[in-house]
Amino acid sequence: MKLVICETHNELGTKVAMEVANLIKNKPNCVLGLPTGDTPISVYKELVRMYKNGDIDFSQVTTFNLDEYLGISNSHPCSYNSFMQHNLFRHINIPKTSVHIPDGLAAFPDEECKRYESLIQTYGGIDLLILGIGHNGHIGFNEPGTLFDTPTHDIDLAFSTVQANSRFFDNIEDVPKRAITMGIKTILSARRIILMASGEKKSQIVHDAFTKEMTTNIPASVLQTHNDVLVMLDKEAARLFDK
Ligand code: F6R
Repeated sequence: MKLVICETHNELGTKVAMEVANLIKNKPNCVLGLPTGDTPISVYKELVRMYKNGDIDFSQVTTFNLDEYLGISNSHPCSYNSFMQHNLFRHINIPKTSVHIPDGLAAFPDEECKRYESLIQTYGGIDLLILGIGHNGHIGFNEPGTLFDTPTHDIDLAFSTVQANSRFFDNIEDVPKRAITMGIKTILSARRIILMASGEKKSQIVHDAFTKEMTTNIPASVLQTHNDVLVMLDKEAARLFDK
């Protein structure tokens, strides 16, 4: 793994966006894997800025989001679908049919997981997957204990994840307790991975994930086995790597 430490959260967003832009320039029909959450917002802002500036063209790009809550519709304001429309897709020239996000209202989640997994393969796999990391070490919604050979699947969210995500909902009771997520097997099959983390509160988990022994208790630690991982952190998140 390669480590890049940025001075600020904004610089982190700009540098990750540049990695995406470079890929799109070299491979206009590339396949991106994308996260939601606070961490990538600065990346999406910069990508939108670059698009409006005429520096980047999304017309041939395909995207697959990492995860989606189960039990709420695409148009629910807290769905990951809405998040992506709001922060990225509605501002750029990506065709609607090139955007893929698991269906949170799928009547048969198992079938939806299989459909999603095979669709990723149909597009030839993911060229660049961007990941955040949860406080408990989750990647996507692969919570601690998830087996490393799991493809896209539905999962019960850890209580700490429900708590962390309740900031977006009126009440913690409203936070969906289940989700569909790319599995760790799906994540590891991406050709290139960028894991980004920002802020002091992520410093311990990101340090543990890349310096301690790999364990299913810290799902992100599995990235130690991938041959093209770039860990991009701001100074606060990188605090323990400096020592
Ligand atoms: C979201 C996702 C999660 C987040 C993680 C960090 O699609 O896959 O793994 O990346 O929970 O979230 P933030 O960035 O809000 O700290």
